[in-house]
Amino acid sequence: MDSIEIQGGVALKGKVRIAGAKNACLTLMPSALLTDQPLTLTNAPRLSDITTMTRLLTSLGAEVQLLKKGRVIAISAHNVKDVEAHYDIVRKMRASFLVLGPLLARKGRARVSLPGGCAIGARAVDLHLAGLKRLGAEIELENGYVEARCNSKGLVGNRIRFPLRSVGATENLIMAATRARGETVIENPAREPEIVDLVHCLRAMGGEISGEGTGRIHIQGNASLGGATHSVIEDRIEVGTFILAAAITGGSIELERGTSRHVGALVKELQAAGVGIESTDTGLGVSSGRERLKPLSVSTAPYPGFPTDLQAQLMAALAIADGRSEITETIFENRFMHVSELRRMGARIELNGRTARIFGVEQLKGAPVMATDLRASVALVLAGLAAKGKSVVSRVYHLDRGYENIERKLRACGARIRRVSA
Ligand code: UD1
Repeated sequence: MDSIEIQGGVALKGKVRIAGAKNACLTLMPSALLTDQPLTLTNAPRLSDITTMTRLLTSLGAEVQLLKKGRVIAISAHNVKDVEAHYDIVRKMRASFLVLGPLLARKGRARVSLPGGCAIGARAVDLHLAGLKRLGAEIELENGYVEARCNSKGLVGNRIRFPLRSVGATENLIMAATRARGETVIENPAREPEIVDLVHCLRAMGGEISGEGTGRIHIQGNASLGGATHSVIEDRIEVGTFILAAAITGGSIELERGTSRHVGALVKELQAAGVGIESTDTGLGVSSGRERLKPLSVSTAPYPGFPTDLQAQLMAALAIADGRSEITETIFENRFMHVSELRRMGARIELNGRTARIFGVEQLKGAPVMATDLRASVALVLAGLAAKGKSVVSRVYHLDRGYENIERKLRACGARIRRVSA
């Protein structure tokens, strides 16, 4: 198993090109199942999660071509025969569950394994299932699989009110309702930019949808969706991670194709902590001096609040801030697994339920640490970049799920980092 070795202490300086958004691409790919016409996605990221989704769509009978070294994904689902998403694939990645809505809408039935994914909490799928039932689906759980079917006339539009904002449930329901008969109204949907991106793509395919990014989405069902070519939005979590890489090392980085439009909550906090963040001609410039960051008090929240996917990285940066910070995780109940590893590097962090108190220390010290999930693993890399001496982050397959060439991008900014194959 690969690990990443870092000799910390270099203030990063250089340029990084931001990739297309993993989470947008992972919902755009299953939307191809809604039509027998080709869907072409450009600006796709090259990640192992995308490979997993490719395998899943292929296993259903779709043709998936990775062109231009994986930057372009061409999907044709004209020949989808199988409606079963197997446990072997779904357990690796929760986003696999996003084939449920499109398969059901197109084929009238679907059999999808209950998902696995990051071990960051219970991550139920009750909202996905309740929403699909409102569209007329009959759903049973059998042997670890969700068995869903609808009658010969297909799904029927309805009003759905989510009790809490779920990104995946909103995506599954938008996709299913786009091909249902009649109108669907989704109240209290998630508003993440990846959902807005999905709607833009579905609209290009002929979907009649409005209200994306607001508290109410209207969908006028349309049985005949066509093909489209769509460019995936930039990865806001990669943008935020590199902003924090500059902040934690006291460096300055330019993020090509990066914008602050989807990371407003992070930018506001970091500017208050003393980090300079400004738009440039080609992207976003971040500069952080030798001064320690000021402490912060942050709670994660659905978009446009502070993203849970940047919580671990922020904690790494606050571990060396000048004073006591507080982070409350409100989205996932078990997303503090990086805390014990950061402590091994000298961080002083106290946990009390969903709140972490971080007592900033002057310097972290390199140590062997273990990645436990995708965002925790990158937080440990950031901590290693700032720490004195050598850190070794093991189990980096988590990193490869969501960050394209991260060690190469960091090395281009002067980081002393390398991948070691076991
Ligand atoms: C997506 C993102 C993930 C991000 C998360 C929150 C993708 C591929 N993944 O995950 O990176 O961390 O949004 O921004 O886009 N919940 C239920 N019942 C459900 C569904 C969700 O109780 O049926 C709960 C979850 O347990 C969690 C909360 O709702 O506590 C938010 O989860 P959700 O927004 O659904 O996250 P994902 O779509 O899985």
